Amino acid sequence: MFKTVEWKKTGVVMIDPRLLPEKEVYRTYRDYKAVAGAIKDMVVRGAPAIGVSAAMGVALGASKIKAKEIKGFRKEFDKIASLLASTRPTAVNLFWGIERMRKVVEDNSSLAIPELKARLIAEAKEVHREDIEINKLIGKHGGALLKSGSTVLTHCNAGALATAGYGTALGVIRGAIEAGKKISVFADETRPFLQGARLTAWELKKDNIDVTLITDNMAGYIMKKGFIHAVVVGADRIAANGDVANKIGTYSVAILAKEHNIPFYVAAPLSTIDLKIRHGDDIPIEERDSSEVTHMKGKRLAPAGIKVRNPAFDVTPNRLVSGIITEKGVVKAPYVKGLKALFPK
Ligand code: MRU
Repeated sequence: MFKTVEWKKTGVVMIDPRLLPEKEVYRTYRDYKAVAGAIKDMVVRGAPAIGVSAAMGVALGASKIKAKEIKGFRKEFDKIASLLASTRPTAVNLFWGIERMRKVVEDNSSLAIPELKARLIAEAKEVHREDIEINKLIGKHGGALLKSGSTVLTHCNAGALATAGYGTALGVIRGAIEAGKKISVFADETRPFLQGARLTAWELKKDNIDVTLITDNMAGYIMKKGFIHAVVVGADRIAANGDVANKIGTYSVAILAKEHNIPFYVAAPLSTIDLKIRHGDDIPIEERDSSEVTHMKGKRLAPAGIKVRNPAFDVTPNRLVSGIITEKGVVKAPYVKGLKALFPK
């Protein structure tokens, strides 16, 4: 089994999804700046995997701080945290992972520096361990929503490759299969980065899960034909009102699902829910390089100089969401109340 991201003595090791499915290459990042670069360049991607990598990046950076006293340590720590926080704006797990590490410093500021460094490394490993456990719970709760014999459409990759392992949306599919149900999957290719074609198709095939690849613009036809019984996607940030930011194209899939009376579920850990953002319109949406749209594998597809937009995410309004599957169970509308209740004071 592959490992998406791992803490090793040599540094943070990541599988490079940009080379999949052709090559399974692992890269080792030995300092926090390199980890930040890996997040920015999508060597690691998917909200939970980004959160885990950010925590590991902080631990790696902190372990090399030279300051012998907490004041100097904090100053260096802030530099590390702010570089990692500047990598990608949409997935809130990035900021969640960094904040979790900051809390370790706050709670242990009286410790000797070497001990504080050891605590930070332990915390990053714990974030990684917990993520797999959380995904299995999401899989258990979400799997219960799917009937045996169903075909599920998913968009982007919210699988093992987007998390520490098991996946969120694909975790739901794995959970249903582990519960003895027969589940088939349709994977949207997910232009422009092709997370569906390259990653979802690869990891499901590797697990012998029945998967059929379609291009994004085929989803409506496939739904109209009655082939799809449920849609399950992941999320990058969920606002307090249940609006969901996820990979560009998710919103269109949600509208299609509504039109065809197909339940549309979002699977995500609590670390993806941002109660500070009240409405989806306030979620920052990353705009990526135009070459992702104009080129494929380095080959130009569109005329040079053409105007391009490349928003990497969109926001699906809560009214299109049938349920949000978390490690604490499935939340249904009204979301403001249901999501708030997940976080006891
Ligand atoms: O740009 P990406 O590949 O990081 O976007 C990933 C997604 O949109 C996923 O659906 C989301 O992060 C959930 S991953 C469990």
